[in-house]
Amino acid sequence: MDKFRIIGSVPPKPLRGKIRISGSKNATLPLMTAALLTDQSIKFTNCPRLVDVFTLETLLNHHGVESFFDGNTMTLTASRIKDHCAPYELVRKMRASFLVLGPLLAREGKASVSLPGGCAIGSRPVDLHLMGFEKMGVTIDIDQGYINATAPEGGLHGAEIAFPTVSVGATENLLMAATLAKGTTKLVNAACEPEITDLARCLIKMGAKIEGVGTSILTIEGVEKLSGAIHPIIADRIETGSYAVAAAITGGEIELTNTSLDLLPTFKESLEATGTTLTPTKGGFIAKAPSGKIQPVDITTAPYPGYPTDLQAQFMALMTLAEGTSTITETIFENRFMHVPELNRMGANISTSGRTATIKGVDFLKGAEVMATDLRAPISLIMAGLTAEGETTLSRIYHLDRGYEDIENKIRGVGGNIERYKNGEAQNRERETETA
Ligand code: EPZ
Repeated sequence: MDKFRIIGSVPPKPLRGKIRISGSKNATLPLMTAALLTDQSIKFTNCPRLVDVFTLETLLNHHGVESFFDGNTMTLTASRIKDHCAPYELVRKMRASFLVLGPLLAREGKASVSLPGGCAIGSRPVDLHLMGFEKMGVTIDIDQGYINATAPEGGLHGAEIAFPTVSVGATENLLMAATLAKGTTKLVNAACEPEITDLARCLIKMGAKIEGVGTSILTIEGVEKLSGAIHPIIADRIETGSYAVAAAITGGEIELTNTSLDLLPTFKESLEATGTTLTPTKGGFIAKAPSGKIQPVDITTAPYPGYPTDLQAQFMALMTLAEGTSTITETIFENRFMHVPELNRMGANISTSGRTATIKGVDFLKGAEVMATDLRAPISLIMAGLTAEGETTLSRIYHLDRGYEDIENKIRGVGGNIERYKNGEAQNRERETETA
């Protein structure tokens, strides 16, 4: 298995230069499933080349979708659906595969999708998805780990669906289904993450009738058919925030391009409270580390526009070196502190009680052998490694390859000492530091 070897120092070598942010993984995945809604081609530009994207491409191919992935442009054409079953061996690799359910029901009136199961950060139930589909007339039969869903005779019908808790995936699944349902669907307490706004914008380009985009109430008037579209995928706000923290924690200054601070309203406030300056530029912003010590800041994760749960681990890494004590409360997932024991092995001083972690700032960290446990935790370990004394080895980095395009070369491009090892062999070609 691949590993990263990171060489840090105390004080850390500041990361300096430019990083171009890739398209959003969490926008790309639902957008790809939207291709099932039409028999015409959809072309996505700014599409990140990630393991999760390739995994979903394989599933869509299984359903009969033709795909053409050239550089960062992906064209998908679902001329006809060949297979209505999303098999366990594909769905278990990437839970967002569950997002094929809504489009298949809308287009074909039936689908058999493996229950995605849980993952390291939580049980990840799908009850809110199923509640919504049942309100649209779908009969659901769960058998041997599969959801066998059938739309009513005349197809899905519109419904008012009020979510008891905000769910990104359930909002996306039902939004896509509603575009071809008979009548009007109203999603109340819908998630309004930028990735959902991006999905809605693409669906509207395809001919969908959606009101309330960007708000927590979405009203969708079903239409007969949807057409193809050309759609640029929004920037990955989680990658954006991750590299902004990397600048802050290493005492550096990084210009992030092909992105926007507008995608991260609460994160911006929290990071600025640490003493980091975030200066908007044309096409992005510059993240500059605090001139003095990192200030401790308390955060609580919440659905958009609150602090993103996917940036919780990164902020915690920064807080390990703050001048004082901070707390981080994780309200979205029940088990998203797996980076805590790994950071503590590097000399951090973090304790947890239920959903709250208390971080007492220390003067420096020490390199250690650490392990990636999920998609977002390991980036916090890379940052800690860049600022730690000595060498850090990070194993199980397949988690990172799911969600961060070209990660080690982006970090090397701003002066970070990180190297990928495959079976003990260094892999990184020398790379020109990004020119201004
Ligand atoms: C999406 O997951 C993202 N994944 C996650 O990013 C992100 O952390 C999460 O939204 C929250 O922002 C993608 O977009 C592919 P939810 P999703 O449904 O849709 C509960 C990453 O790192 N819930 O908003 O699965 C659930 O247990 C990933 O890129 C139900 O109870 O998240 C959780 O506590 C990790 N029943 C909360 O809602 C349901 O039917 C939020 O989940 C669905 C969800």
